[in-house]
Amino acid sequence: GADQDLRDLLLSRIHDVPDYPKPGVMFKDITPLLADAEAFGALTDAFVALCAHHGATKVVGLEARGFILAAPVAVRAGLGFVPVRKAGKLPGATLAQSYELEYGTAEIEMHADALDAGDRVLVIDDVLATGGTAEASLQLIRRAGAEVAGVAVLMELGFLPGRARLESALAGAPLEAL
Ligand code: PRP
Repeated sequence: GADQDLRDLLLSRIHDVPDYPKPGVMFKDITPLLADAEAFGALTDAFVALCAHHGATKVVGLEARGFILAAPVAVRAGLGFVPVRKAGKLPGATLAQSYELEYGTAEIEMHADALDAGDRVLVIDDVLATGGTAEASLQLIRRAGAEVAGVAVLMELGFLPGRARLESALAGAPLEAL
């Protein structure tokens, strides 16, 4: 069916790079997908359909690859785009959220006035791995007083517990992996 065709197309344009960025890690390189207008367009259309299906009023992209995927979705869906950035990159007043990594912690930020109280936000990123980044982004959205429409990613690494980690932050909102 159409979903399987999309999945096959996307998978064919994601390249596995062994031992990058360090030994033992299999990196999922999406640059061939981005370079293919048909595949990137089909991916964008699929995200746009999720915006409509889940009633999104804003699109949040997670730095850095999430920006590339989310921005065209926002434009095609006719929605505003809001960046969630690594700490220290946004010029205005921000909300900050730190989260646990395997070793240590990381911090992301969003402009405090980027979302309105009535907004329903779809978070878009390339990969859900441990789920730490996505979970922190949902906490930022809720702290800003907006609703979570869902999280949509190109890839979910099913051998990691990202989906379980996100469960409570999602509070019933969907996690969609294309
Ligand atoms: C990667 C990826 C996701 C995140 C997923 O970003 O693009 O944003 O990690 O990992 P998690 O589910 O374990 O949080 P990265 O931090 O490498 O940033 P980049 O896109 O700026 O390279």
